[in-house]
Amino acid sequence: TYVVTDACIRCKYMDCVEVCPVDCFYEGENMLVINPNECIDCGVCEPECPAEAILPDTENGLESWMELNRKYAEEWPNITHKTDVPADADEMREVTGKLEKFFS
Ligand code: SF4
Ligand code: F3S
Repeated sequence: TYVVTDACIRCKYMDCVEVCPVDCFYEGENMLVINPNECIDCGVCEPECPAEAILPDTENGLESWMELNRKYAEEWPNITHKTDVPADADEMREVTGKLEKFFS
């Protein structure tokens, strides 16, 4: 499966949802997550993300992100179309440690 990570928070470009063939993205206020039970591992979303927030779960150190994606995919609504991107999305790309700062 693929996993949405820290870099998505407050960027939320949503280009990913437009290309996913199985519509397995779920929307929170500040970021999206992928439902690992639905993702078919096609990989097409990864290069679409301007923030490079989407990674394959074969990369090291993604366990906590994997759990976060799994948990919130059960709670948040499905999203299949791009809407308005946050006005400061490009500035937020430079920020690190966004989980601690903005996730709630
Ligand atoms: Fe959707 Fe494919 Fe990305 Fe999984 S890897 S979230 S199926 S686009
Ligand atoms: Fe987030 Fe990238 Fe999608 S910033 S909303 S994972 S295009």
